[in-house]
Amino acid sequence: MTGKTSTSLVATGLPGRPEPGGPPAHVTRVWDYFTGGSDHFRQDRDLGDRLTGVAPWLRSSVLAHRRHTTRAVKFLATEGFCQFLDLGCGLPYEERNEEMLHPHDAASTIRDSVRTMYVDDFGPARVGADTILERDNRTLAVQADARDVPALLARAREKNLFNLQRPVAVLAHSLPEWMDDHDALDLMNDLHRHLPPGSALSLTHAGTGTEHEDAVLAQRSLYATAGIGFFPRSHGHVRALLGRWVVQNPGVVRTELWGTGYGPFAQRVPRKARDVTGSYAAIALSTAP
Ligand SMILES: C[S@@+](CC[C@H](N)C(=O)[O-])C[C@H]1O[C@@H](n2cnc3c(N)ncnc32)[C@H](O)[C@@H]1O
Repeated sequence: MTGKTSTSLVATGLPGRPEPGGPPAHVTRVWDYFTGGSDHFRQDRDLGDRLTGVAPWLRSSVLAHRRHTTRAVKFLATEGFCQFLDLGCGLPYEERNEEMLHPHDAASTIRDSVRTMYVDDFGPARVGADTILERDNRTLAVQADARDVPALLARAREKNLFNLQRPVAVLAHSLPEWMDDHDALDLMNDLHRHLPPGSALSLTHAGTGTEHEDAVLAQRSLYATAGIGFFPRSHGHVRALLGRWVVQNPGVVRTELWGTGYGPFAQRVPRKARDVTGSYAAIALSTAP
């Protein structure tokens, strides 16, 4: 850490433990609970337990997502990307290994001059990214609405983080499903409109139409009882969100399958039986290569 106040707070910097009547459940903390982190309150655990009651595979799903993030970022870095914009970054992972690295660290295994902007509208996620993920002047953590793409890019430029004459790789992993149809589509289109030509978008999205359909829809109801809007979408709907983007091989596929059948990681990423995600993944470019 450079120039930041170090705290003695547990893990990502949340003070104290839950109190009765503490903060309402938040998806960021529920994911932290699933993965054995320490930044969650009673309400998060209660919701998490009800969610895993209907979808016992959720914990392994979050871990599978993190392995996917590492894989997708390494792929993008191999393709030449060195500027990463991680939208809806969530709390830093406590469990890390070679297969499960934060985006900046994953890209840095491939390239030297990586720059990463971590964005989340949930304050503790920003604090976590700021204190845990900071790498000198090569990362920036901001608390902001991911939907305001021009403001985010202006911030990255003002801070001399990104050169916007060069392509940017955006991660929108498990993000649009927390937005209604209008906002999710606007976000995809705004990214396409405002990013430099040749930029990339890596998307993962909770899906309907898989064999886990019932569990996914039951999750939607449980999130609703906690006042959280959750909008899993079909394969066709996710594909439609990417309407202006040039989707790369292998197209929109189940997240656990992405990268297993082609490309540089084909042989290195065997599908694991436990890797149920109930979600779709794709990588797309803003212009044809
Ligand atoms: C399910 S978590 C995914 C975290 C991380 N991307 C991952 O794949 O592990 C979704 C995150 O998106 C954030 N989020 C949701 N809507 C957002 C918005 N409009 N702007 C910024 N962040 C948002 C939430 O606060 C949460 O941290």
